Amino acid sequence: MDPFASPSKFDHELLSFLQEACNELCEWFKNSKTNGPLPTFAEFPKVEPSIKGLSSKELLFDLQKIMNGAYRPSHPGALAHLDPPPLTASIVGDLICAGLNNNLLAEELSPSLSRLEKELCYWFANQIGMETLAGGVAASGGTLSNLMALVVARRHAGLQLDPSAVILASSDAHVSLVKLMTVMGLNSDSLRLVNVDIEGSMSIPDLKKQLKKLKAEGKKCFAIVATAGTTIRGAVDPICEISKLSTNERIWLHVDASIGGVFTLSSGTSRLVRGLNLANSVTLNPQKLLGVSKTSSILILADRTNLNATFSTGLPYFEPVKSNEYHFGEMGLQGTRSAEVLKLWLGLKQLGEKGIENILEQAISRKQYFLDKLDISKFQLCTGPLHLLAFTPKNLNLEKAKVWSINTRETLLRNNFMLSRPLYQGRFYLKAVFGNPHTDQKHLDSLAELVNESTAL
Ligand SMILES: Cc1ncc(COP(=O)(O)O)c(C=O)c1O
Repeated sequence: MDPFASPSKFDHELLSFLQEACNELCEWFKNSKTNGPLPTFAEFPKVEPSIKGLSSKELLFDLQKIMNGAYRPSHPGALAHLDPPPLTASIVGDLICAGLNNNLLAEELSPSLSRLEKELCYWFANQIGMETLAGGVAASGGTLSNLMALVVARRHAGLQLDPSAVILASSDAHVSLVKLMTVMGLNSDSLRLVNVDIEGSMSIPDLKKQLKKLKAEGKKCFAIVATAGTTIRGAVDPICEISKLSTNERIWLHVDASIGGVFTLSSGTSRLVRGLNLANSVTLNPQKLLGVSKTSSILILADRTNLNATFSTGLPYFEPVKSNEYHFGEMGLQGTRSAEVLKLWLGLKQLGEKGIENILEQAISRKQYFLDKLDISKFQLCTGPLHLLAFTPKNLNLEKAKVWSINTRETLLRNNFMLSRPLYQGRFYLKAVFGNPHTDQKHLDSLAELVNESTAL
């Protein structure tokens, strides 16, 4: 088989290769339910290329071994993380994206796709409720979106040369903030953590206290990061109140809405994440609940010109774009980028407004249904308005809570349910994310029964 598709005739060999691969994929989906979410796999293919290239049949044989060992997000018991099954349209989007092999670095390498990225970012900005200056850029994951936002915020504050400049975020904010401290060359105490209240949301009194303390120390703060959907319990920070403080203090407000941002896409759920329109920048991660295949994240800015003001270098080896416009390679950190917006766009169009609303509302209903079945006299719960729930038995010491979490996770895995085991505020919990569309009430009944029995183990 020619390793490159023919540019001049219909490539029947490619077609049958794709058909066989797609057949394997559909079989893999079909078998997802038979086994648990976490596979045990015995065979691993040889990694190094052989002297002579492999035929398509041999390639598919090796591919099957990797597929056998893959995590199965489509299993109804896959509830551990923020990784739902993929939308079928986004699978097609990924396939076509690989075939087109366009590069979102510059418009001449991706004419229609760059336009799609620009317009999709406007659409998201509009959904958030931002005004005409808003826009954004797609990125591979929430970590990168957060990093770009904070690099922009620091430049906006003119503090690029100050390693003691500070970011304020709640103690439940995502660990990607710790990573970006290192990348941005900031001092280790530059990330100041604001306490959370009993609901897991940023405490406004503590935020005020921290702002005062920074002034007393003579330190400058270049960003407050609010979280709309914290990683362990799905809490939402009081963005409107935080925005009043950040506006008064002239500090950039970034909202990490990696988990909660998509709830703004439906009028039925947007009240859960109020205030995104007040932010200077917002991270969204449609890969986390909507089922857009990985990776899919978007960074939206209220004033998009801050992106090119920060990242533009001039791309002297490309044709210039219209005045006042920039290649996407000058709007963010990444250079070469695949057209991930294609699968996002196809996925959103496949769902339509109704489909998006269903996904969001059903995720929340699933959590509520499970909560109703859980014997809450036995468990300490950590949750918020979104579709995440962490729980641990009441009245156990820390060591016993750890043992319970290990044993219960194993029991659940034996019964084809996978939950995660986060360490939260010094105590081990089990966490369920109810974003899997294949999890029905019967599954939730069985899960609740197993969890209710777990305290007797
Ligand atoms: C709130 C929040 N922000 C950021 C991230 C990082 O996103 P990614 O893994 O796509 O880089 C996560 C990941 O779970 C998250 O929960």
